Amino acid sequence: MGGGAGDPSNGFPHREGRTEMFLPVPPQLGSQGPRSKGSGSVFYNPAMSGSRTRSVLLLKYAIESGMLGEREIYALDGLAASGLRARRWINELPGEMAKRISATIVDLDEDALKWAMESHVRFGTSHGEGRLIPRNGDLRVEVLKSGRHWVDIDPYGSPAPFIDTAIQSMARSGVIEISATDTAALTGSSRTALMRRYGARVRTDGLAHDSGMRVMLASISRSAARHDRIISPLLSVWDSHHLRVSFRILKSVSSANNLEGSLGWRVYSPREEEVLSSIDAGLHPQSQLTHLPMHCMLPLSYPVDRRDPRVSGPLWVGPSGDSRAMSCMTESLALETCGPIFEEGDFVGWDQKKFEMERRRISRSVRHISEESVVVGSNHLVVVDDLSSWLENGAPPSPRRIVSYLTEAGHLAAVSSYGRPSFRTNAPWEAVVEAAESIQPPM
Ligand SMILES: C[S@@+](CC[C@H](N)C(=O)[O-])C[C@H]1O[C@@H](n2cnc3c(N)ncnc32)[C@H](O)[C@@H]1O
Repeated sequence: MGGGAGDPSNGFPHREGRTEMFLPVPPQLGSQGPRSKGSGSVFYNPAMSGSRTRSVLLLKYAIESGMLGEREIYALDGLAASGLRARRWINELPGEMAKRISATIVDLDEDALKWAMESHVRFGTSHGEGRLIPRNGDLRVEVLKSGRHWVDIDPYGSPAPFIDTAIQSMARSGVIEISATDTAALTGSSRTALMRRYGARVRTDGLAHDSGMRVMLASISRSAARHDRIISPLLSVWDSHHLRVSFRILKSVSSANNLEGSLGWRVYSPREEEVLSSIDAGLHPQSQLTHLPMHCMLPLSYPVDRRDPRVSGPLWVGPSGDSRAMSCMTESLALETCGPIFEEGDFVGWDQKKFEMERRRISRSVRHISEESVVVGSNHLVVVDDLSSWLENGAPPSPRRIVSYLTEAGHLAAVSSYGRPSFRTNAPWEAVVEAAESIQPPM
């Protein structure tokens, strides 16, 4: 052991979820960015802990649902750094699931893998099941060495360089999870980078992060189709500085031929004929058109002017998540699976308060996801700040109150897990306007 990042046995013990690890420097909890990048040390970003918790829960759902088959599961933590993500999979899942998992951790940084394996040897897994295999090298080479059921790509910046090879490595049915921290590009602030990497434009408005996730899904689905595959989103999340999409990937030439049906445009302040086309294409709730909505989606075949600043895309116009996968992400299940339990004389040195704080972080990481599952099939996401400006009716209404009003009126609606106060609904636009105005009479 030893090397550029020092000796792990002299490292700082830390815990995320139920999994302990050694780090070369103490983590700064609550910080947004990586503490330990550079300086010859191991990258660990506490701000990504929610993403790792959701990853454990999604893998649990995928195993239970049978989508990863019934035999050994070949999983790859592609840009592993501290290896914590893969270590959390095999440690926090129940023993009978973990024993099916063979998890490979890949990183260019040999020191990072040494620290990961030292933590694994020292702390093991709670049930003694699960295999962890280190591979030092370039993900684009390592990933093609065998078929995989589960691949995680969590890069610095854009995932674009890693997507094509990851798709080629997949078994007939598997799951890929991809993070992106090039949010300035994906949300339209860096227009040339967005066009170069993803071939799209995004309007920088309240829905820019949702549009960015949909641009990623569109770009990934095109790569998948080139390899006779289709994607089916399970979960799409905007969490602080990163966007993350998780999707099932399946071999199907006939469905890959129909890819264009899942792609299209998002238009801000649409004209009446655009809303009618959106309704006709099944991309917008039926509506009387007494009020025009803030935005709608259009099929790829619709003749949009790509220089029109109202238009974002091409982007994914299908659901950005799967209701069954999302319904499993409850706070109680998250705590049951990943929540650490206080013990006196804790090795990491945590007192009861620190355990409680970590349990709160675990709960927060899935907030609103299971609730939103009931209406994820509708892509009508409404940011309440934008709604009140659009209707010119004062302070933004509470998403919870709008949702109550709409559900009492018989529509599907839920507070969204999107990173701005918002709700998702299948209600016609006039019902949304009525709800907003009833809760908050016009000024
Ligand atoms: C953002 S960090 C990964 C964080 C990690 N997934 C986690 O959950 O903590 C990116 C890692 O990718 C590694 N890396 C960068 N380019 C790589 C490549 N082409 N192949 C393999 N690893 C690479 C870096 O050394 C770094 O450890």
